[in-house]
Amino acid sequence: PLATPEGLAAPASHRVADRYAAVGRPGPGRFENTPDSDPSVASVRSWGDAITARVASSTLGVRAVQEARVDSATALDAALGRAKAAGAVWGTWSGGARGAVLHAVGDALEANRAALIEVMAAETGKTIDQADPEVSEAIDFAHFYGTLAGSLDEVDGATFTPASLTLVAPPWNFPVAIPAGSTLAALAAGSAVVLKPAPPAERSGAVLASIIETALDAHGAPADVLAFLQVSENELGEQLIASPMVDQVILTGAYETAELFRSFRPDLPLLAETSGKNAVIVTPSSDLDLAVKDVVASAFGHAGQKCSAASLVVMVGSVAKSKRFRNQLLDAVSSLTVGYPTDAATQMGPVIEPASGKLLDGLTTLGAGESWAVEPKQLDETGKLWSPGVRQGVRRGSEFHRTEYFGPILGMMTADTLDEAIDIVNEVDYGLTSGLHSLDPAEIGTWLGRIQAGNLYVNRGITGAIVRRQPFGGWKKSAVGAGTKAGGLNYLLGLGSWAPAAATA
Ligand code: SER
Repeated sequence: PLATPEGLAAPASHRVADRYAAVGRPGPGRFENTPDSDPSVASVRSWGDAITARVASSTLGVRAVQEARVDSATALDAALGRAKAAGAVWGTWSGGARGAVLHAVGDALEANRAALIEVMAAETGKTIDQADPEVSEAIDFAHFYGTLAGSLDEVDGATFTPASLTLVAPPWNFPVAIPAGSTLAALAAGSAVVLKPAPPAERSGAVLASIIETALDAHGAPADVLAFLQVSENELGEQLIASPMVDQVILTGAYETAELFRSFRPDLPLLAETSGKNAVIVTPSSDLDLAVKDVVASAFGHAGQKCSAASLVVMVGSVAKSKRFRNQLLDAVSSLTVGYPTDAATQMGPVIEPASGKLLDGLTTLGAGESWAVEPKQLDETGKLWSPGVRQGVRRGSEFHRTEYFGPILGMMTADTLDEAIDIVNEVDYGLTSGLHSLDPAEIGTWLGRIQAGNLYVNRGITGAIVRRQPFGGWKKSAVGAGTKAGGLNYLLGLGSWAPAAATA
């Protein structure tokens, strides 16, 4: 394992807390950076007003997407060949030299913060107060992996050989932070990258890629070491994933997508972060006000469209019996401002496409014993804008207990004891994030010892993992393939191969 590298402190300019300070307001305070910003603080929002004006008519990324379209097998092979050749050169650079370029990428992302927010909001409906900290997370990835790259040159007497070509397949829900994190990790580890955006977020991917490419070019990185390719998800998509030129794939998406990739190429080296069905347990010893705030932010931030989102709240003992927590939670949910990112005051935006299938079921169909504590309503003719929903009476083993809906619906469950609550949470097939609200050290210890999830949060929301501080990744069906955690010290180590230094000398 790597020693903690020196000099990882984030530059002042992109820390959310510093930006609050710059406008004379107290920062969020708890973290050095906050991927999920605190909506009670107005400065990010007033800064966002300048951007919202541009969102409705934004054309950022439109042309770049057209230019990136690959529509024949020959063109795809040629693009992969160019990237792989560039990777072979890039991999001969020292880790330290690659890291210096990544720091420059971080600065370029900061310089283009407004454009990145604009394109995310315009294309995916992400609200300003979710998009702004997402850019911070991308910048954190650049500086974190940039610093780690130097540590790869030699670790404990072993030498690292980079892969030459990594395919990055990100999701649409974090259209900047996740492709940035995966791409920059692979670049730091000495590999070329083919970045294939998720179709609903291709413009955001194109703007991100052009910012990274410009910084790479300016610092002498080989041309084509990053190839942004828009490949349709038909035979060409399959050819891309199955290509023997691709050494490894970093996928973030549904569990089923990881299975599909494996079906295209069974021996595919895959690092996949997949689905979640995440819960927050609230015990009688918790700070109930804080619990309400954290559950609401975790369940309804980005309209629940996060693999990390809270989809269940399990109320223990008197929390379930007394009405205080329940009433406060329902009040808070009902008073969320729902709308579009063209208004910086919007707290919950639209879902990515008109609700259908499983999501529509989640928004409209109750299971046995369930009823709406807050009924979701379709708010306009687009089919995308829904008010948040809370269902009560969710039963153990029911469809809602076990299914990821990826939308603004929270289910309430009850348990007599903390142990029973933990059993309820552990019964689902996934294990990505999990939360506990409790001020009792014994309860916290019990929960930490038993809960089955990759990212555990005590007395904090369960979304918005912070680079380096909370490396992100799950277990059980929430991870497929090599399971190292993004934004952690070990992530780069899994992106190449190792040999004893003497053997390669
Ligand atoms: N890293 C994100 C979070 O923690 C999810 O991808 O919310």
